[in-house]
Amino acid sequence: MAASDTISVSRAAHGLRGTVAIPGDKSISHRVAILGALAHGSMQVRNFLCSEDCLNTLRAMQQIGARVEPGDAPQNFTLTGCGMQPAAPQRDIDCGNSGTGMRLMAGVLAALPFESRLFGDRSLSSRPMKRILDPLTMMGAHVEACGEKPGCAPLHICGGTLQPIRYTLPMASAQVKSAVLLAGMLTRGTTSVHQPAITRDHTERLFAHFGIPCSVSADGLDIAVTGPVDITARDITIPGDISSAAFWMVAASIVPGSELTLRNVGLNPTRCGIIPVLQRMGADITIRSIHGEGEPYGDITVRHAPNLHGTEIGGAEIPNIIDEIPVLAVAAAFAHGTTNIRDAAELRVKESDRITTTVGNLRAMGAAAEEREDGMCITGGTPLHGATLQSFDDHRIAMSFLMAGLNAAGTTTLQGCRNIATSYPSFEQTLRELTR
Ligand code: S3P
Repeated sequence: MAASDTISVSRAAHGLRGTVAIPGDKSISHRVAILGALAHGSMQVRNFLCSEDCLNTLRAMQQIGARVEPGDAPQNFTLTGCGMQPAAPQRDIDCGNSGTGMRLMAGVLAALPFESRLFGDRSLSSRPMKRILDPLTMMGAHVEACGEKPGCAPLHICGGTLQPIRYTLPMASAQVKSAVLLAGMLTRGTTSVHQPAITRDHTERLFAHFGIPCSVSADGLDIAVTGPVDITARDITIPGDISSAAFWMVAASIVPGSELTLRNVGLNPTRCGIIPVLQRMGADITIRSIHGEGEPYGDITVRHAPNLHGTEIGGAEIPNIIDEIPVLAVAAAFAHGTTNIRDAAELRVKESDRITTTVGNLRAMGAAAEEREDGMCITGGTPLHGATLQSFDDHRIAMSFLMAGLNAAGTTTLQGCRNIATSYPSFEQTLRELTR
């Protein structure tokens, strides 16, 4: 089904019922493409996220010498690495909309002996890159941000031999942490990162999967990698993305009559903070059959919760739920009482300024919501009405407000939905199936 740029929904009068297979995790897919591309040998990759963001990263890795042979379905393929002998890319690398793709690849490319140039779309070209340029420059890398906006993409990289560093992250960012660790793995000596709060640890788990020497302190805040490493390919199955499952978790919680089971969702403890937050708000969530060595995953069943109530969200739990805050704000608008979201200023530098875009769209639907410098305050319980809303070039804003429309009066129309394909290409089809 071709992706629509404008999607309309109305109240799902009979509830949302059924089972949804959640597509592969975006963060893990980027990292598997990058590490597998460098490795010696071939690996079977299963359940890769075939979204524009991750396919851009995979195509970039093919430019430096990785090979991809199709499998029995688009999300399953054989990835053959370049055996730690990457070639210089022949063209500029298109990162599309993906901050993760650009920041992680910049870490790797900074340590490889050739020139490269990374560019992205309008949204990505206005997102801060200084946060990776600073540590990479400390390592001796030659990386320049040449965008119209200072400190922004395109990035011009003259890669080469780097020095190990000990780096304290100024913000809790898994992308910055991973850029430094990926550069560190290609650098002689031990590179370490201290993070102010625990962030998603997929890079560290994949290092373990590929046998890359990496240590993590008992409190999880200090990570060290000793390079240069030699990576050997190893088959992997990528779990479903909890950030994609989050939309259905909130929809099922707010729409009367709903019961949805979300299959094979990644339950990495650094990623599944939305579950305790929704449970604190009174959501009805059951988790079954947890498996997985490197990355735990399981099935999540969510039923309508008639008595959702507001909660306080902030501090160390923010990095764990950072991508789910727009849809949690939608849940808050359907909950009695007030929800305060604090310590989340990082939302301002995502695909859109998610504090402004979330609050603006909530208000357009009749919700009581206020911006704060580092978050927002939402007082729920007032019935919402449909509206024509913008996605602001942000896939998660589009999907979050389509969920709100499933329990609003009248029609809710989202404009600028094509970017949903950056993270969840089958979203519209699943939405249509559940609301048929
Ligand atoms: C990601 C980290 C987060 C998150 C993004 C994916 C990753 O960004 O918002 O969608 O895969 O490392 P920050 O590290 O910038 O917070």
